[in-house]
Amino acid sequence: MVNIEYNKSITEYTTFGVPVSSNYFFAFSSVQELKSVLANNLVKDEKKLILGGGSNMLFTKNFDGIVLKNEINGIEIISENNAEVILKVGAGENWHDFVIYCVEKGWGGIENLSLIPGSVGASPMQNIGAYGVEIKDVFVELEAFNLETKKIEIFDNTTCKFGYRESIFKNSHKDKYIITSVTYKLSKNPVFNTSYGAIENQLNEMGISELSVKAISDAVIAIRSSKLPDPKEIGNAGSFFKNPIITKEKFEKLQAKFSNIANYPQADGTVKIAAGWLIDQLGWKGKTYDGYGVHKNQALVLVNYSKSNGKDIYDLSTNILNSVKEKYNIELEREVNIY
Ligand code: EPU
Repeated sequence: MVNIEYNKSITEYTTFGVPVSSNYFFAFSSVQELKSVLANNLVKDEKKLILGGGSNMLFTKNFDGIVLKNEINGIEIISENNAEVILKVGAGENWHDFVIYCVEKGWGGIENLSLIPGSVGASPMQNIGAYGVEIKDVFVELEAFNLETKKIEIFDNTTCKFGYRESIFKNSHKDKYIITSVTYKLSKNPVFNTSYGAIENQLNEMGISELSVKAISDAVIAIRSSKLPDPKEIGNAGSFFKNPIITKEKFEKLQAKFSNIANYPQADGTVKIAAGWLIDQLGWKGKTYDGYGVHKNQALVLVNYSKSNGKDIYDLSTNILNSVKEKYNIELEREVNIY
């Protein structure tokens, strides 16, 4: 028996927390359950949306179809030696809980990615990253269910086509696969990544002189908590926009006009610009409307203080895009998926 729910509110399953419901809803905890629901006549031809931690989505209207919530759990050690451990993790596991599980064992590689909201299955989807580390650095492979063939396929680092907040699952394979598990390789003798200035400062502030997986995780948690709103308290989806990457020529022209523009030169000669800086300069930071607005400490983050309408938040993002385009001639892209 497949227990499909009707006309279900999915507000609580998303970190933005805007009021939204879907025609049908089903939470699956195994590939077998997923297969059963997909074979069910009632919903077979419905539009499908896969929900993990719901941390990177904004609904501007109700979802006309079936929401499938991935609750495949479990952490399995595939192999282990003195140097490393390979873990296969159910896509429905909470990302931060998994990070803490590894931190407590002293396994290194994802400590810089502490406190990122969302699920394990979403981590390769957009190649999550923070403080100098991206998921692709520890990624081995993933299993994904092909919605057309109904078979599991394996994707490795190359076939996932990872880029900055990008993978094949956000592009050509969007909505065609359901990630069911992700396999990571972590290190027992980790090389710590403290290249991101804020981490060094935070470690000093906390009086930590001996680096450890735990110390870095604690530092990242402290930084994130001070700058980014906790979705349990204030609805949000992390960075709403991506940091744009522009040519060196365009950057030099901009820098001549705006000498302190926050930027990160890339290995291929292009330059990544801090979208948060651009938006902040335009005066958006902290702007509050009727229950929603731009976060007071980080202009890249849009926030929902009180069950605001997703469409209003979307329209705010359009106004921000337009103003950045007008002043800096840069077209920002949304990082958050809009439905
Ligand atoms: N800045 C401002 N004003 C702001 C925000 C930022 O001037 O309101 C400036 C900062 O002073 C700094 C620069 O912009 O010079 C970069 O800011 P920050 O270090 O806060 O990082 P970010 O580029 O805004 C990115 C990720 C975050 C990640 C941090 C740390 C993207 C889109 N965002 O933000 O990821 O935590 O770096 O690595 O790449 C997320 O994806 O949800 C997310 C939070």
